Amino acid sequence: MAKNKTAYVCNECGQDFPRWQGQCNTCQAWNCITEVRLGTGTSATRTHQFAGYAGAAGSGTAKVQTLDKIDLNAQPRIASSFAELDRVLGGGIVPGSAILIGGHPGAGKSTLLLQTLCQLAQVMPALYVTGEESLQQVAMRAHRLGLPTANLNMLSETSVEAICDIALQEKPKVIVIDSIQVMHMSDVQSSPGSVSQVRESASYLTRFAKQQGIAIIMVGHVTKDGSLAGPKVLEHCIDCSVMFEGDSDSRYRTLRSHKNRFGAINELGVFAMTERGLKEVANPSAIFLSRGEEAASGSLVMVVWEGTRPLLVELQVLVDSSAMANPRRVAVGMDANRLAMLLAVMHRHGGLQMSDQDVFVNVVGGVKVSETSADLTLLLAMVSSFRGEILPRDLVVFGEVGLSGEIRPVPNGQERLIEAAKHGFTRAIVPKANVPKKSPPGMQVIGVSKLSQALEVL
Ligand code: TYD
Ligand code: MG
Repeated sequence: MAKNKTAYVCNECGQDFPRWQGQCNTCQAWNCITEVRLGTGTSATRTHQFAGYAGAAGSGTAKVQTLDKIDLNAQPRIASSFAELDRVLGGGIVPGSAILIGGHPGAGKSTLLLQTLCQLAQVMPALYVTGEESLQQVAMRAHRLGLPTANLNMLSETSVEAICDIALQEKPKVIVIDSIQVMHMSDVQSSPGSVSQVRESASYLTRFAKQQGIAIIMVGHVTKDGSLAGPKVLEHCIDCSVMFEGDSDSRYRTLRSHKNRFGAINELGVFAMTERGLKEVANPSAIFLSRGEEAASGSLVMVVWEGTRPLLVELQVLVDSSAMANPRRVAVGMDANRLAMLLAVMHRHGGLQMSDQDVFVNVVGGVKVSETSADLTLLLAMVSSFRGEILPRDLVVFGEVGLSGEIRPVPNGQERLIEAAKHGFTRAIVPKANVPKKSPPGMQVIGVSKLSQALEVL
């Protein structure tokens, strides 16, 4: 009989240790390391698990084949009913994959997955496991949203072993687990929601998904600081991790992938929460561009590249003389270090001194911009606010700014310009190397190679 293995796991960050210790080396938290028993197939449930997996990997039937012989068409992706969700997942749900949808409570994860599964159940067997809401509550919501409820199998259960048993009988193609934090396994001795339970449940379900070819979508709640409970643990065992974000007081929700074994990351999907559930936003540029009636200084539109498509976003900068010895530099939706760096570049190469000014930067619509193409936009908006000059409303700007004041090209320049032209912009200031041979119709494109040149053009 195999020995039962134990591991010592930090409840705060999920780090493994070979023996117990008082403080976690990774997150420095005290008294958070607990012993976790890892089942090895000796307990009744584990033996049962492997009986269920007969014929799957490990049973001696696996054979070696060359990479080119592997049939790519065997498992086409499953199209969920939301094109935005499919795009974020890299083109649909991959059969046998484990997907984690994280988000704050009330973000709309259950609504999104219920809508998806009701539609999917019309064409393939699907199972919705709810551990948080009662079956009546889910049914009431589905009814209120006017969803087709006829074929969707529902299960109210929190034991992972029981769910897998039922899945083996029902043979669904897609399972939703709402949520992973309430799931538990009988041979893990800690309460549901603890890191060791979440970790064991998620990895058990992931193995089950792989071996049975069932796509499993798990809901994960995030903690106050925005990380998934048991973050490292979950991220490495699953295939895709997507976050469903948005303020509860805003209509809009964004879906973004943080890890994806089957597609590009940082794809952005946009949804609107309505009284009839979630609706896709086909043209997200339009909502992030909703500008006030009056033109104002310090406001400028940039084109950022989100995964595989361009997105027009408004950037606002307020420069105001500071009453403090250390003027404030605040960046919302952007990296504050980058702002500090750009201020230095502006001083050295643009000749504008702002050391006695407060600088506030805000990306409108709650979008987070991590791309360097926003550099030039930020600097020009800053100049506009500093001088109190209003910039033309049909102007769009993008480009990376280097430390010596040079304007560097960014990828996909042509597509960005086309997107801007589609939204009625007629003037663009872009890096010289991004100027296309033929400008989009109706658009005047000005190429600049130095910051000083951009300021002249302005
Ligand atoms: P829910 O899917 O329960 O969130 P989660 O599972 O992520 O915790 O969504 C709950 C929120 O969504 C709730 O605050 C109300 C809102 N909502 C609507 O505005 N319209 C709707 O049609 C539904 C179903 C929910
Ligand atoms: Mg929920």
